[in-house]
Amino acid sequence: MDFPRLRLRRLRRSETLRRMVRETWLTPADFIYPLFVREGRGVRNPIASMPGQYQLSVDEAVREAREAAGLGIPAVILFGIPDHKDAVGTGAYDDDGIVQRAVRALKDAVPDLCVITDVCLCEYTDHGHCGVIRDGDVDNDATLDLLVSEALSHARAGADLVAPSDMMDGRVAALRTALDADGFADVPVMAYAAKFASTFYGPFRDAAESPPQFGDRRSYQMDPANADEALREVELDIREGADLVMVKPALPYLDVIRRVKDTFGYPTAAYNVSGEYAMVKAMDRLGWGDGAGLMMESLLSIKRAGADLILTYFAPEAARILNG
Ligand code: PBG
Repeated sequence: MDFPRLRLRRLRRSETLRRMVRETWLTPADFIYPLFVREGRGVRNPIASMPGQYQLSVDEAVREAREAAGLGIPAVILFGIPDHKDAVGTGAYDDDGIVQRAVRALKDAVPDLCVITDVCLCEYTDHGHCGVIRDGDVDNDATLDLLVSEALSHARAGADLVAPSDMMDGRVAALRTALDADGFADVPVMAYAAKFASTFYGPFRDAAESPPQFGDRRSYQMDPANADEALREVELDIREGADLVMVKPALPYLDVIRRVKDTFGYPTAAYNVSGEYAMVKAMDRLGWGDGAGLMMESLLSIKRAGADLILTYFAPEAARILNG
């Protein structure tokens, strides 16, 4: 059948019809809400480049997480901002570190909430790189030992899921082996499997106070030009034992999300990163676009591309809209 007998506009005539043929639906259960935790009490420091996001002390993080859970958001992911940084990121694997304390408080206050921890060293090192430095570059194998210590420390604190975001080779296998050996065989690993060296992380590095003090992350994060290599990264992480895989950022890499989902059929997460959030907020502030519309269309596109889960700073805001 062809035009004029065929008219695709027939099914777009009313909101009711549009709802009936809608292919992709967002729900608050799709979201993982990132939180930045720091020392103190009653602290809620606004992050200038991420309007609506805050560095939170543990008590405030609990408040924020409780509210998110009430909106139907199943999970948060924690990023720590320690008071003390050093060359080997000691704060990352301190059992009394900021993330470890936040995990315990959150599991205590909101037991059903899935508490995920970001496993990386860049927030804890004084040079801001995601591992230990040797000869001017991040030393892969020496970093693995520290990531293992960090993940185990998070698991001991009660983390429900650990998410390595460092992009060292072999880290998923190292974490899986160590978790299994230490009685945490039930703690899944969500691998930041295809993580690109992206300019869109800019606001995050302000938020987490973690910009690299020299050089950049291109010797460990992926070249934005490479999609075949992204599939190899994902395949490797799956072979090493990743339970969920992630593509990051999301919007500039929708093609990668689709290929990862189609190729592996694994639970696939996508990280709608700080710069993607800031872009929407900036357009809204400048009067160049409607923030809510930009937000929902962005999130929908990520889900349509094949993501099962979306890590997004929009989580509560979008959940409020979805809940009506
Ligand atoms: C840590 C980490 C980063 C992000 C998540 N985990 C920063 C980076 O790699 O520079 C970025 C998240 C965002 O931009 O929202 N390695």
